[in-house]
Amino acid sequence: MRKILCLLLICTTLLLAGCALSSASRDKDFDDSLIVVGFSQVGSESDWRLANTASMVSALSEQNGYRLLFDNARQKQENQYLAIRNFIQQDVNYIVLAPISETGWDSVFREAKAAGIPVIVVDRQVSVEDESLYQSWVGSDFYREGQMAITWMEESFPDPDAPLRILHLQGTEGATAQLMRSRALEEAVARHENWTVEAALKGEFTEAKGYEVVRDFLKTGTPFSVLYSENDNMTFGAMRALDEAGISYGRDGEVKIISFDAVHKALEYCLEGRINLCVECNPLHGPRVDRLIKSCEAGEEVPKSSYVEEICFTCDTITPQMIGEREY
Ligand code: AHR
Repeated sequence: MRKILCLLLICTTLLLAGCALSSASRDKDFDDSLIVVGFSQVGSESDWRLANTASMVSALSEQNGYRLLFDNARQKQENQYLAIRNFIQQDVNYIVLAPISETGWDSVFREAKAAGIPVIVVDRQVSVEDESLYQSWVGSDFYREGQMAITWMEESFPDPDAPLRILHLQGTEGATAQLMRSRALEEAVARHENWTVEAALKGEFTEAKGYEVVRDFLKTGTPFSVLYSENDNMTFGAMRALDEAGISYGRDGEVKIISFDAVHKALEYCLEGRINLCVECNPLHGPRVDRLIKSCEAGEEVPKSSYVEEICFTCDTITPQMIGEREY
């Protein structure tokens, strides 16, 4: 018994020494006036995501008054839970979350609230029982993005008697970007008797998966004339699969391509006539999150949700100047 007690005492002493050491080493070169932010990012699955990370890192910089703890969850929600719990342990001032999917946040948000740490959600939305569990959300209106694509389809294929066969390439299941862009398409298909979705393929927002699922689908020989792809990187993969299968696409091709995000490379393809429609999804959330945090710091009320303005580009109207003016 004495041995066990001794062991327990040694362990507790080591643990306490460890805590003291880690907070001491944290404090040593740590400027107290900085706002400490823990940011849990989804991953690095797309060009959009890289532009988003760059925007966040540059806005939440030391020169701007922050100490940023960045965590890349590599597309796994469990990693985001770990990161958030880690931020809570480190007693950050704010937690910023770009959630992989909408659901599953109640417990971890409750833990943050109990620790008195405000959570700011960015990009995709969260669905929690108690909305007071997070401070604010800023991101895109993904449903409106989908509707912009549908409007273009309705204008481009006005004949109600001509069948319109669509191949739907979906992003990460359960992410707002997937749910809302898919919803806009599904509702439109229900409204138009001549529209059919030949398949809904799961491309996880990555180029590799987009390529793989479209390549496999093309082997079935099912005809289609529109590719509705929920992000640019999956589109790039799909274009490779179409090239390999010898299927033409774009302005003069058999398959018309609709792509979401409007990253630089996609706009270049749009200018070349290889992508028909690019729907913008704006990734530059860093300055928006900065403003939200600074408002919270000043004790001001912040909006519960804020949508960013977005536009779309067609291969018939895009110009090099439009691309040149873009920040990402
Ligand atoms: O949530 C935004 C989406 O996530 C973008 O459309 C996609 O490229 C990214 O991975």
